[in-house]
Amino acid sequence: MSENFEVKLDGKTYLPDPSVKENSWIGDYEQTYEKFLKYPSAYWEMIADELEWFQRWDTVLQWEHPYAKWFTNAKLNITHNCLDRHVFDGRRNKVAMIWLGDNGEEMIFTYRQLYREVMRFANGLKSLGVEKGDTVCIYMPLVPEQIIAMLACARIGAVHTVVFGGFGSNALRSRIRDAQAKIVITADAGMRRGKRVELKAIVDEAVVNSSSVEKIVVLRRMSPPMELYSEIEVDFHEIMESAESECEAEVMDSEDPLFILYTSGTTGPAKGIVHTCGGYMVGTYYTTKCMFDLKDNDVMWCTADPGWITGHSYIVYGPLSMGGTILISESTPDYPDPGAWWRIIEEFDVTIFYTAPTAIRMFMKFGEEWPNRYNLSSLRILGSVGEPLNPEAFEWYYSVIGKEKCPIVDTWWQTETGMHMLTTAVGEPMKPGFAGRPVPGVVADVVDEDGEPVPPGTGGFLVIKEPWPSMMRTVHQNDERYRQYWNTIGNYYTAGDLAVKDEDGYIMILGRSDDVLIVAGHNIGSAEVESALVSHESVAEAAVIGKPDPLKGDSIKAFIILRVGFKASDKLKLDLVYHVRMNLGPIAIPSEIEFVDSLPKTRSGKIMRRVIKARELGLDLGDVSTLEE
Ligand code: WTA
Repeated sequence: MSENFEVKLDGKTYLPDPSVKENSWIGDYEQTYEKFLKYPSAYWEMIADELEWFQRWDTVLQWEHPYAKWFTNAKLNITHNCLDRHVFDGRRNKVAMIWLGDNGEEMIFTYRQLYREVMRFANGLKSLGVEKGDTVCIYMPLVPEQIIAMLACARIGAVHTVVFGGFGSNALRSRIRDAQAKIVITADAGMRRGKRVELKAIVDEAVVNSSSVEKIVVLRRMSPPMELYSEIEVDFHEIMESAESECEAEVMDSEDPLFILYTSGTTGPAKGIVHTCGGYMVGTYYTTKCMFDLKDNDVMWCTADPGWITGHSYIVYGPLSMGGTILISESTPDYPDPGAWWRIIEEFDVTIFYTAPTAIRMFMKFGEEWPNRYNLSSLRILGSVGEPLNPEAFEWYYSVIGKEKCPIVDTWWQTETGMHMLTTAVGEPMKPGFAGRPVPGVVADVVDEDGEPVPPGTGGFLVIKEPWPSMMRTVHQNDERYRQYWNTIGNYYTAGDLAVKDEDGYIMILGRSDDVLIVAGHNIGSAEVESALVSHESVAEAAVIGKPDPLKGDSIKAFIILRVGFKASDKLKLDLVYHVRMNLGPIAIPSEIEFVDSLPKTRSGKIMRRVIKARELGLDLGDVSTLEE
């Protein structure tokens, strides 16, 4: 399919106050980028040298396409850099983490407190038999213990795989099985809008026949405390209290795995993206410092859940490796009222605020009177991630929230990339609708299907041309799938996004080039929703497409062919929605279901979602024959 279409690029440019650039870590973007281009290895080495290593590397990068090793033979522990370094370097009593519960509860941890909790829980995990290299699944609500559990795994060299608490039992089960998790850490329940979300019950369903699971650790935060059954269930705090308080950080090789995080793909089940210790630490530290411009007196609030890559990189590992103060909140943006988040910013003097366009568009709908009731003058930097920040949302974010004084960093990146890849560095001219230019250290371009750069104004595929430290190393149990990322277009890393560049090298993201849907900033594979639907007794075949939605980015529409003997009805639609909810979770629910008699297919029997989508949106079908290869 030809992606070389013309895109009209015009629009405004915003220039932040010159003091922003003067006081920033990144300094002048162009000079910094030049410096990187001239001496790439030295550039990364300079950053890595700001962190503490148990043993220094032999070489910065060993690259045998498509396999990279960064900081070879270096030894480290990421939690040493997130905790010990600060505890012994003047930040012992600094606030590391502020947590706000759905019902207004509050917990604050200094670096010293966090350090001690992590060590205790790390010892607790050891007492359950967890060893270096074992996989631990974390399926928890957004509570401090979720982060403590992640860091405790990293402390002892266990590989964590965090599953977002909004996923249903099938999604959880497939991840536990693929990752061969030895332990599952969960909580009795999460809280959402004042209501309990029963997590433990979902775990109970998910672990049936998951033979790898030896223990389930349960955080009991509700009263009365839920009963624990059988020997395999243990209490989160009990294993902590009976454990030693000191736990030395395990010496990890730079290329030892740190975590697996699942992300939706075009086909089949979610892919287990594998990140390793050294490069990931350097990439997230660097971008937190230079793209968010994090300083010692900042309070950074990233509204994602640690269950997504955004939370891994910019709640946990990036800010903590910088010694920053993070704020996390279990709350929903409009509960108990649409002022909830602005109140938090006012109350805690949040300075760096990082959220998704879908949330910004929702706030626009509520109206500016809500943010205007609060003093947001502490804000310094605004961030966006997950989907394109459309110009209207940019303008609103910039003027109503940032009062025209905060740079907006619209950060384009992926689970696979581990760190920001494109954005507009603070202090540089901002162009609404454009993510921006490559982060210094990243070589990105927009190319045609042969890998040739397309001229400005012409759409093409977004690729990354050179390896970077926090790139994924493989897809768990599927290295072939990993190689595809680097073999599809030339020898470049193909992101799966369509994009266009302007004369100044700013890149605008146009959307996915495959069948991954971005619903409210969350990545959902059409194939996953289809397979959930087909597992219902009434469904013979299903096709799922994303329809543009003014609020959510994409909304999910499902086309269903029923099995003989089943009749289309509104009741059946509700059943199917419920079925998807139980299987995959509320984020994957179709907002529309249509029963049909047939679906367009290729000769080999693949459903042509593009054709269905074009038809649905009333678009020109284009050259359909090329799709029938
Ligand atoms: C999309 C989230 C436009 C994109 C960090 C990408 C974006 C996918 C942006 C990765 C952005 C992310 N502008 N699109 N600033 N950020 N995306 O793995 O399609 O959950 O490929 O990582 O989200 O989603 P993931």
